Amino acid sequence: MQTVADITTLKEQIKLYKREGRTIAFVPTMGNLHEGHMTLVRKAREVADVVVASIFVNPMQFDRADDLNSYPRTLEDDLSKLNQESVDLVFTPTPEIMYPEGLDKHTFVDVPGLSTMLEGASRPGHFRGVATVVTKLFNMVQPDIACFGEKDFQQLAVIRKMVSDMAMNIIIIGVPTVREMDGLAMSSRNTRLTLDQRQRAPVLARTMRWISSAIRGGRSDYASIIEDANDQLRAAGLHPDEIFIRDARTLSTVTPESVQAVILMSAHLGQVRLIDNQVVDLNTESKESDSSEANAE
Ligand code: PAF
Repeated sequence: MQTVADITTLKEQIKLYKREGRTIAFVPTMGNLHEGHMTLVRKAREVADVVVASIFVNPMQFDRADDLNSYPRTLEDDLSKLNQESVDLVFTPTPEIMYPEGLDKHTFVDVPGLSTMLEGASRPGHFRGVATVVTKLFNMVQPDIACFGEKDFQQLAVIRKMVSDMAMNIIIIGVPTVREMDGLAMSSRNTRLTLDQRQRAPVLARTMRWISSAIRGGRSDYASIIEDANDQLRAAGLHPDEIFIRDARTLSTVTPESVQAVILMSAHLGQVRLIDNQVVDLNTESKESDSSEANAE
């Protein structure tokens, strides 16, 4: 496995891969790798000849300095995990390499609508930072395919729209969330939970499953479902942040035309903000029979 920190060497190596006619799958990360990341890497290995990963804690996507500073950095361990998965090349730039003139003077990429709603509303500038760094990394790595976790549902939607709007010639693969045995979605932030917080954390996923079965059971009183869910989180010692039930495709309000809803949840446990999401099939059966009745008319 080759580890490269500078852009010129990275681009030379990418040129070699391209010259050899090898396809490239890319897995961008911020390090502190866990099984969820390894699933992305294994998917990348399945779909292309060469796997390139990056490890870069991107300052542009953090809205709070304390969050950026306390983000776990475990480079040696990360490199050894990637090596075990036979990753071909890892790009590990510094902020100075990525943003030589600082953040404020750097060109940015903004995906309208999707970036400012939901999580984007509570973390201003976050998705702009993600879209900008991902564009820059895509330009350097020139992948045929890039793999992202479905755990960051809104991030995946932002990236898909950016790739489509900007006609980037890259296939985006969303990889399902990997969970601990107790249902907690794997995240680099989980390592910052105390033992007591770690024991409480699975309540987020449990509450999400409760919301999902309420919706599948035919309830559409989303405001009161969300209220009950917030009570369940509070009772378990979590501080609810946001719960949204939205159309899974547009992330806008669920309408009678919506085929799937997505539950997007976040809650605080101490200093850690946990997020999770689940897609729920809406009652398509009755819609299908509605539309077949309409067709019959
Ligand atoms: O999901 C992440 O780890 C980051 O947001 C990403 C996509 C690597 C961009 O910094």
